[in-house]
Amino acid sequence: MKNYTKISDIEELLPLLEEALQLKKENTDPQLGKGKTLGMLFFNSSLRTRLSTEKAAKLLGMDVMVMNVNSDAWALEFEDAVVMDSNKAEHIKEGAAVISQYCDIIAVRAFPELQDKEKDNAESVINGFIKYASVPVVSLESATAHPLQALTDALTILEIKTVKRPKVVLTWAPHPRALPHAVPNSFLEMMQRMDVDLVVTNPEGYDLNPNIIKDTKVIHNQEKALENADFVYVKNWSSYEQYGKVLSTDASWTFSNKKLAITNNAKVMHCLPVRRNVVIADEILDGENSVVIHQANNRTFAAQAVLKTILKNL
Ligand code: CP
Repeated sequence: MKNYTKISDIEELLPLLEEALQLKKENTDPQLGKGKTLGMLFFNSSLRTRLSTEKAAKLLGMDVMVMNVNSDAWALEFEDAVVMDSNKAEHIKEGAAVISQYCDIIAVRAFPELQDKEKDNAESVINGFIKYASVPVVSLESATAHPLQALTDALTILEIKTVKRPKVVLTWAPHPRALPHAVPNSFLEMMQRMDVDLVVTNPEGYDLNPNIIKDTKVIHNQEKALENADFVYVKNWSSYEQYGKVLSTDASWTFSNKKLAITNNAKVMHCLPVRRNVVIADEILDGENSVVIHQANNRTFAAQAVLKTILKNL
């Protein structure tokens, strides 16, 4: 693994998950990153990704530098061959090359604008760093993917499952704002590589990118989809078909005890942050089926496994 910006960067999933599990039990390589620096660049807010990735790097002995790009750096231009006479003072060609002089791994968070599907799918920010940095690049969530979150989710399911092939349901839930597709996209791509019975449920108009769904079962009746589920991953996303639009805030899709009762006493997952009583009811988040804090804890070990793999290849 050179970069980790998409699920397909993982050559073999099980050894990476086993590495994360081992690191959770015991920090086997506290010196591997000594003398190496992780640069974390945030174009958007973060709580979990920022803290867990910084902790993961430090557990490996790395130094960490964090920059909130929008407030602290020169505005970056990502288009090629433009006359730079607007507010953008620095091109990604120099920006990424210069950051590579100070950092051994560059990690980047850059959300989509959710205005132009083709533009967001082009992933100009993360791909700009991959193209012009001379060091490995890790995604801290890009326009279309959140691979560190998905690795965490796989780790959590692997740890908790009690049957060989659990039924895993990804369910849409309402939200007042238009949210990206990165988390559900990467969760689906990760689950497609695991031995699970995978179902997605969402209202009509909310089907995810068909290139991500592939042959995953999509059921538009949430209650039908939830039957016998062992894990329910609750997440909102905006419409992909009517790109970036909020078509529904139907509260009947909020995940509650009534929905849990349909499942096989499922464990309930969410990447966080979560809007209580909009996306998931208090009774679930405060109840014994919620594993959202367990998931958040696992962010550190997923990030540590990825950084360790990259460091070993430097
Ligand atoms: N789940 C997640 O990525 O959380 P943050 O946005 O707080 O980093």
